[in-house]
Parts: sequence; structure tokens; C-alpha cells
Amino acid sequence: MQTQQTLKQGDKIVVAINNLGTNGEGVGTYGNYVVFVPFALTGEEVLCRVEHVKRNVCYATLLQVNLPSPQRIQPQCKYYGKCGGCTLQHAHFDEENAFKQALVKGNLQKIGKLDVPVQPVISAQRFGYRNKISLPVSGKAGNVKIGMYKQGSHDVVKVQNCLLTASWANDLIAIFTQYLNQIGAVPYNQATFSGEIRHVTGRFVNGQLLATMVVNGDYKRSLDPLIALLGKRFDKFGLFVNINTSKNNVILGKVTKHVYGIKYITNCENNVSYRIQPDSFFQVNDQIKAILYAHVKSLIAGERPDALIECFSGVGLLTAELVSNDYDTYAIEIVPSAVADANAMKQANGIARLYNVCGDVNVELPRIVGQLQGKSTVMVVDPPRKGLGESICNLILSNPPQKVVYVSCDSATLARDLAILSQGYTVQLVQPYNMFPCTNHVESLVCLMIK
Ligand SMILES: C[S@@+](CC[C@H](N)C(=O)[O-])C[C@H]1O[C@@H](n2cnc3c(N)ncnc32)[C@H](O)[C@@H]1O
Repeated sequence: MQTQQTLKQGDKIVVAINNLGTNGEGVGTYGNYVVFVPFALTGEEVLCRVEHVKRNVCYATLLQVNLPSPQRIQPQCKYYGKCGGCTLQHAHFDEENAFKQALVKGNLQKIGKLDVPVQPVISAQRFGYRNKISLPVSGKAGNVKIGMYKQGSHDVVKVQNCLLTASWANDLIAIFTQYLNQIGAVPYNQATFSGEIRHVTGRFVNGQLLATMVVNGDYKRSLDPLIALLGKRFDKFGLFVNINTSKNNVILGKVTKHVYGIKYITNCENNVSYRIQPDSFFQVNDQIKAILYAHVKSLIAGERPDALIECFSGVGLLTAELVSNDYDTYAIEIVPSAVADANAMKQANGIARLYNVCGDVNVELPRIVGQLQGKSTVMVVDPPRKGLGESICNLILSNPPQKVVYVSCDSATLARDLAILSQGYTVQLVQPYNMFPCTNHVESLVCLMIK
């Protein structure tokens, strides 16, 4: 046991954990050091091994929990701690939700300089919630590994039974593993940029599967054995090949080819018929998505604007909840396949006053705002993790909608944006949702009213 105050890699130290960091890791102090220990909980005393020291910050791995928290539970997953997927499975679900509420509150205070109430997290099922997987393919020809990247590395941990998804995903992994081994396909090597197969993705909604194999260039091998295996397990499925020759970490390349079966998933929710293509964004958690969309709808319901502007609108399922015969709706989305889905949704449901705009919000929003000068508006935004950014926030402030509903999947960028938007808006509601149980990610809904 080390007792000295200067830490180095390999030292074993005992740390009292007094908080959780933004990634859900335990945080404590040792002498002058702040120590980060993944998988440790607040109130615990843990024995850990120093992995990395930078000035007075130390990153350590958990070796033993000397004094466990009453919030600690036995993780159910056999890959827990090995694959980089779940970071909070060792905590009671209530504790995880409390962490997420505190995370949003802390980011709003620290980054946004906003001291506003944050509601308790709304959650649904903890396991089996994901309708989508995106898994790297690694290993050797004849012995492929499909799984998750180990935390902080590019080593793939083979996963055969992920608890965050359901049997469809585990069967899909088994089918791809069998097919790739059978034909001797060579997994992609990130160090040499060589090999054939990079990723396998799947989305399963309403009993329909869309599976995509991401390949490193032209793919000449027969897909018939794969189609046969998929056909034995799935009644309705579509198979796609995506070509990605880039040397970066982006999963999908620009070209996706339909190979077999259905071209999109079709579904009907709340009397809205819609479809989803494989390249289009769709919320990963069906239960939370439904509650969240109903909440957004309720926040807009009392408004009587001339126009509603929805930025980052995806395939248009949320849009369908927001449209009205009483005002025009402009929905802006950058991915062409998602806009095609949104246009199909508009047509299938006979929606009249909806304008789906394909383009970058940074370009299209100023144009639409210019068109709507002098009219009253409300706005719904649901950006990707990087948030709105300064120029969109300033555009909103200079042409202010009466109400802005902000849906965010990153509370740090949300807080950064709210620091700007709060110059012209009052934060009326901050409601976190546990869209991604067992992980440190949290979805938030914020309602802003013009001052
Ligand atoms: C978090 S998703 C939300 C989609 C939709 N609101 C939903 O609930 O399904 C963000 C969406 O923004 C789109 N997007 C990303 N960057 C964009 C940009 N610069 N301009 C327009 N859309 C963008 C993505 O393609 C994605 O569909």
C-alpha cells in the first residue's frame, strides 16, 4: 500500500468517494490529488490502482470496494466493466436517476450560470430498451468478434447478449458472426485501415429489422447465406450495405445500398403513420420517446403562433405531434433520407401546412426566420450532442419566438446554449429523461418563455 503524496502509475491507494463525475465515475481525493475511479459510488471507500497522473488529477481503476454504498447492486451483465457500454449498472436505478438529475443541475449551474429547479428524472424500463445497435467488427478471418469497444480503447469485447437490447439484437449478432466466419471475411483493422467489414448496425421497430453491414470499399462476396440466415429468424427485414472507406471513426459512409427485403420500417403511433430508413435518425428508446414527444406536444398545445419552426426534425414523428391547421410548420433536417421519410409521413397523414426543409439549420433557419419577419413564432429544437451553438442562439435572440422548447441529449452543450438564450428567455421547466439507462447519458427537455 502506498502512503506517499506523489502518485505514479501502479500505486495502490485507498480513496473515499464523495461525488460522481460527469461520466458517472466516482470522485475522491488523495492528498492533493483529485482521483477519478470508474464504477465506484458516492460514500464508498475503495482500493484502486493508479493508471494515469496529470498534475493533481489521477485516473485509477477499481480493485476492491472496502466499504460499499447501500446504493450498490450486483450488475446483471457478464460484460459489465469490460465493454465500454454501461457505466452505472452497479448503482440502483433510483441512484442512477438521481445522478442524472444532479448532472443536469450541476451543468446548468457551472456552465450555464443558471440556478433553476431541475425536475426528478422520468424513466421507464432499465433493460432491453434499445431499438438500435451499432457494433464494430474485429478479430480475424474465421474468428470475428462483434461487440463493444473496451472503455477508452479500440479493442473490441465480443458481446453475445447485451442487456440493453432485446433478443433481436443478440440474434442479429449471432447471425452476422456465423455468416462472416463461414465466408472467411476479414474484419477491418483500424491500425492499418485494411480488411473488409467495419461495423454491423441494426434497428428493430414494430417487429421489423433493418440491418446494415458497413464495408471498407466494394463488397464482392455473396450475401445470399446472410439473407438466408436472416430470413430464418426475422419475418420482416431489410439488408443494406454501407460503404465507408474513410480513415476516421465515423461509422457510416455516404453510400448505402439496399440489398434485399424491406427498404424502410413502417409504423403507426398515436394515429400517425411513419417510416424510417436506415440512415435516418430515430430515438433509441421507444418508451421514453413516446413520453417525451407527448410532453413537447403539451408545451406547444396552448400556443397560437403564425408559424412553428422545428429544427433538427429527423423523420418527422415529433413534427406530426406539433403540426396544426391553425399555423404553418417548418421542419428543418439535414439528412436527405430522413427528409424523404418526413415527406412520406406528411403525405401518408394528409398534413397540409407542413414544409419539410432539407438543409443545414445554420443556413436554413436564418432564411426561414427572414421569411417570417413580423409573424409570431414558436420553436422546437432537438440538436445532436454539439447543441445549437452561438450563432443559432444569437439568431433566436434577435428574432425571438414567444416560446422555445429545447430537447437536448447533452446537458453540457445545453447549459452553454442556455447561458446565451437566458438573456432573452426565462427557463420555465427543466425535465430530464432517462433515455439511456445504465449509461451516463441523459436527455433533457427545457421550456423557455420570452421575457
Ligand atoms: C437528436 S436528432 C433529433 C431528431 C428528431 N427530433 C427525433 O426526435 O427523431 C438530431 C437530428 O438533427 C439532424 N441534424 C444534425 N445536424 C444538423 C444540421 N446542421 N442541420 C439540420 N439537421 C441536422 C440529424 O440528422 C438528426 O436527425
